[in-house]
This record gives sequence, structure tokens and C-alpha cells, in this order.
Amino acid sequence: MDSRIPGFHKLGMDERRRKVAEFSSLTDEDMKNIMAQIPMDIADRMIENVIYLMDVPVGIATNFLINGKDYLIPMAIEEPSVVAAASNAARIAREGGGFFAYAGEPIMIGQVQVVKLKDPYASKVKLLENKNELIRIANEQDPVLVSIGGGCRDIEARVIDTSLGAMLIVHLLVDVRDAMGANAVNTMAEAVAPYIEEITGGKVYLRILSNLATYRIAYARAVFPRRIIGDDAVEGILYAYEFAMNDPYRAATHNKGIMNGIDAVLIATANDWRAVEAGAHAYAAINGYKSLTKWEVNREGDLEGMIELPIAVGTVGGASSTHPKAKVAKKILNVKDAREFSGVLAAVGLAQNFAAIRALAQEGIQKGHMRLHARNIAIMAGAEGDLVDRVAEEMVKEGKVRLDRAKEILKNIKNS
Ligand code: MEV
Repeated sequence: MDSRIPGFHKLGMDERRRKVAEFSSLTDEDMKNIMAQIPMDIADRMIENVIYLMDVPVGIATNFLINGKDYLIPMAIEEPSVVAAASNAARIAREGGGFFAYAGEPIMIGQVQVVKLKDPYASKVKLLENKNELIRIANEQDPVLVSIGGGCRDIEARVIDTSLGAMLIVHLLVDVRDAMGANAVNTMAEAVAPYIEEITGGKVYLRILSNLATYRIAYARAVFPRRIIGDDAVEGILYAYEFAMNDPYRAATHNKGIMNGIDAVLIATANDWRAVEAGAHAYAAINGYKSLTKWEVNREGDLEGMIELPIAVGTVGGASSTHPKAKVAKKILNVKDAREFSGVLAAVGLAQNFAAIRALAQEGIQKGHMRLHARNIAIMAGAEGDLVDRVAEEMVKEGKVRLDRAKEILKNIKNS
């Protein structure tokens, strides 16, 4: 079974669940977990002062082919059109061979801030002279991580000038394997701080991971064939891309569209989406705030898109391993490790960007939104089954998407 499931959106919810269960070999227990609300005692242990749960719909994006493997993508989001847009873009990308994704080693940066240095530049060198000892202390904190091939790999240091004087900023480069890595990195950063003070004679204040994970970049690319999307879309997308590359006001919205998709998958899998958001926008701003995607016309004349952004995401540890629904979402995704997961997220971001700028450059996004809105109004008016689409279509055609009109149209159809 591949992830190209024509008419998936037209199926009833039960039928959709059955298809996903079949594709991902979900068990009865998995099905029970996604249907039930998580136990309140679990929620109460996740955060503080809990009083209730917030519901967000989870939709499945279909059609994704990434590095030759089919994926169904669970997306938790309150915004209409995002899941449909991802699925449509993935359907077109399939025609160009699907997405190709790559994520590098899962290296996170832990920062240690050293202040009040008499000789910041000499301190930097002293610190590097003692690199091996620093790495040893860091790795002593996490023998399990080291035993599975991870751990602190290297130390870097920079002097920055601030209005409170020069500071030495030490970076621990830590291979966190399949974890998001915050806990491992923060523990190591705290552990090396006394030794850093000893070597440099300075004072350490902050010891914390950086969300600008420049050593943990994920990439994806895909071809969107001209014969399918047409010359106009190719040209419109190139102009939209140049707009986002040259105007931060546009780039913010362009990148927001990318994160619509990535965040939705992160939320469905209970990953720290704020961390990925922070990293994405900081990376986009490294040389002046710009688009996270690039668009060009390839040798065959087809449109080719590429995305590149830091993705610090885990498949082990954290809420993603304890939350019963996140566990099922991970099973649906079927990624073997954090690197594969990062590549999938990058592909989803690229798909989302393609869909958004194609729509914006052509019919605009309101028509699609209106269609969905019209379906909701039709349901509110009492339409069921086929009648939902018939009433919605009529309202869209008339340009009158209102409850009173939906009721009239429904009455007319029933009477005719
Ligand atoms: C809306 O949530 C996302 C878009 O604004 C993205 C974009 O403008 O590229 C449609």
C-alpha cells in the first residue's frame, strides 16, 4: 500500500481511520489511544496547574514519497487548508519522483557564557588547549549517550563584544543521536562550567543549549513538473520566491507558511515546536531575514524547490515517547530515527511552501478557505452526507457563504 490514496478526503472518518490503521499496522490498542482523551493524571504530570485539555484536530496528509519511501503524515493544526495543501503538493511532487531529503549528524550546541575576563583572547586559547578534558567532563555526564555512539564531540569558543565588556562564549558540540537533546546538552553545559571558570579565571553565568542548531540542518528538494503545474505557476512561484528573498515583511509570512506544516507534525508527535520555530527563524535571519526555501528552474525546464533549516527533533525521550497519541502519530510516520524524521519535516515544509505560493500567485488562498468554510456552514445548516458538498458548492458559486442561505439551499434541494 502506498501513501497515494485518491479520494481520502471524501471518505468518512471511520474509513479514513481504517485506511491509516492498515497502512501503519495500528493495533486495537493504538486505535483506542487515539480515540480516547489522555488520562488527566498524565496531563497533570506534564505541566503545572492543569485544569483541562485543549483539543486540536489531527489530519493525515497523504501522497508523500520521500527518498523512495511512502509516508502518511499526521498533522495537528486548527487552521483549515494546511493538510489539504500538503497532500496536493506531495501529489504533484510524486510526479517528479517525490522528495529527496537529507539530514546531517544530530549535533546540538550547548553554550557557556564566561564574563569578567581580564584576558578574553588568551582565555579562549587556554580553553581550547584543555579541550580534551572539557570533552571528558561533558561525556562523564551521559554514559548511556556515549555508549550508543553519541556524546560531546568538540569544543569551540568565540569572543563577543558587549556593552558589559568582552565575553567568551564556549560551544559544546554534542551528538545527541535520536533525542531532541536539550536535557543531555544542558547537563553537560552545567557540568563543564566550574572547570571553565578554573581555566579562564572568569565567571560563568548562562549554561544552556542554543536553538540555532547550525550543525543539525535538514534539507529537502523536489521537482514540480511544468507539464502539471503550467508555465504561469512556474513564473509566479519564481516571482514569489524573489519577493521573499528581498523583503523581510514577505519572508516572515512565506516562512510562516512553511512552519504551518512543520509545526503541525511536531505537535502531533508532541515535539518541542517552539524550539524548531526559534531555530528556523534565527537561521533565516543569519544573513538578513530571508526565505528558508529556494526555487529555480532545472535543466529540464521544471520547477525545483529546496529547503534548508535546522531541525532539532527527537524520536526518543520527552513527551513524544510518553504521550499515548504522540506514540501512535510516530507509528503512523514510521521513521526509524531522528535524522529520517528531520528529513520528513523538511519535505513537509517544502510542500507547504509550494502549495502556499502557488495558490497566492494564482487564484489566491481565499477561494480554498471559502470552500472549507462553506462546508462547515452547510453542516451547521443541517446538511449531511453528499448534501454537505452540494450545499457548499452552491454557496461558493453564488459567493454567498452564509447560514441563512445554506438553510434555504438545503430546503430547496430536499423539496426538489
Ligand atoms: C497562512 O497561514 C500561510 C500563508 O500566508 C503562507 C504564505 O503567505 O506563503 C498562506
